[in-house]
Amino acid sequence: MVSMGATVFAREAQMIARRLLPSVLGGLLLAFFCQSATAQGAPPVLRGTVTSDREGAMEGVLVSARRQGSAITVTVVSDAKGEYAFPAGRLEPGAYQLAIRASGYGLDGAGTIEIAAGSPATADLRLKPVPVTSDQLTNSEWLTSAPGPDELKRGLLNCTDCHSAQRIFESKHTRDEFLQVFDRMGGYYSGASDLQPQRLVGDHRRPPVNPAMAQSFADYLAALNLSAKPVHGFDLKTNPRPTGRATPSSSPNTRWRERKSSPTTSSSTPTAACGSRTSASSCCPSSIPTPAG
Ligand code: HEC
Repeated sequence: MVSMGATVFAREAQMIARRLLPSVLGGLLLAFFCQSATAQGAPPVLRGTVTSDREGAMEGVLVSARRQGSAITVTVVSDAKGEYAFPAGRLEPGAYQLAIRASGYGLDGAGTIEIAAGSPATADLRLKPVPVTSDQLTNSEWLTSAPGPDELKRGLLNCTDCHSAQRIFESKHTRDEFLQVFDRMGGYYSGASDLQPQRLVGDHRRPPVNPAMAQSFADYLAALNLSAKPVHGFDLKTNPRPTGRATPSSSPNTRWRERKSSPTTSSSTPTAACGSRTSASSCCPSSIPTPAG
């Protein structure tokens, strides 16, 4: 049984908030989140279990729901009994596509569900083993997987402010092209994304790479991405799934996070682990902790 309460604020919500904080809109957004976080008591709008032949009930699986044609993906995590629940008010009635994230597993079945007004829906999800693919990796998993010296690898931490490391590892840029990419990235406002590729004003620049490292970092990335080969030349290593305190069963919270993307993006696979969270009470002060990874 999953109870209701505090709210997960993951990276996207924080990035949106960071961008909007100085404005009135930022205040409204936070007020909205804080209010939702305190809404309690109503039964979940969608719930179910996550199981597989190999493990039985599965804890720490990210379950995402995205309404057809919507740009919003809402994600929750399964508890120790393999149960997940989307809080009331988080999903409007409509046709939804469900997706999961659990490394080495894929959804067995179509994962579509209709949510009708006023009647909670149930979807019990079966997972089947699948090979680990690069689109399942989180930033921290890319950093663990990529070979090479820490002083070069560390440079990637300056890139993941705005987008995933996957963008970089799946690119086909050569060394020289990377030097141009670094230059372009230096012209974006902190927290810019594909949805909002906001440029810095005038000639202002925030170089994401130390100029003294640029050449060697470009060499490094071009050796690891797909510029010279169709598949990555290193093993994809994944972190263990969240357990215990990191899943809802051990605390009186139903946690969720919301991510906005282009409605045309086909994949709704959740890409980030719910490792970072803050409680409803700490969402209201002006400083929001930055998640690790
Ligand atoms: C301040 C925000 C920001 C930072 C920091 C940043 N990027 Fe980007 N990046 C963007 C935005 C916005 C886009 C999409 C628009 C575009 O491609 O110009 C993007 C797109 C990309 C792409 C895909 C497009 C392409 O040309 O292949 C790659 C690759 C990339 N970035 C590499 C990097 C690398 C490498 C770093 C770190 C050295 C980095 N980015 C740091 C904002 C950023």
